[in-house]
Amino acid sequence: MAVTRTFSIIKPDATRRNLTGAVTKMLEEAGLRVVASKRIHMTREQAEGFYAVHSERPFFGELCDFMTSGPVVVQVLEGEDAVKRNRDVMGATNPANADEGTIRKTLAESIEANTVHGSDSDENAKIEIDYFFKPEEIVG
Ligand code: CMP
Repeated sequence: MAVTRTFSIIKPDATRRNLTGAVTKMLEEAGLRVVASKRIHMTREQAEGFYAVHSERPFFGELCDFMTSGPVVVQVLEGEDAVKRNRDVMGATNPANADEGTIRKTLAESIEANTVHGSDSDENAKIEIDYFFKPEEIVG
């Protein structure tokens, strides 16, 4: 299995509840290594650009409101089959449907305030990493 990278966001509901360490611990225990990390307050423009794929969805405005409502921690994670590994530990988008032991089942508040984002493919991981990080900010 190849070592790959994925992109993660620790969302405003988690930073508000001081859970960035708790989330990162679960990511690390799942075999992922944080190779880049920064705490930022996303601008509206950044959030709308990042979630452009969802721009026609009815929840787009509220999603961008939420993602700009407080600080987030954007991270690059590295590990064997990192995209799937991260999605497995995150759990389903809606915490009500997430498996026991996953981040969303354990910590998330709702489908919107669902604590973490993770890339859904290697291709999107690269796009999302490049959206927030310069190559020299990633130290493996
Ligand atoms: P994320 O992985 O960050 O990608 C898009 C986000 O939209 C998703 O997590 C959810 O937090 C958010 N979202 C809000 N409402 C919905 C909804 N009804 N269906 C799917 N995603 C939603």
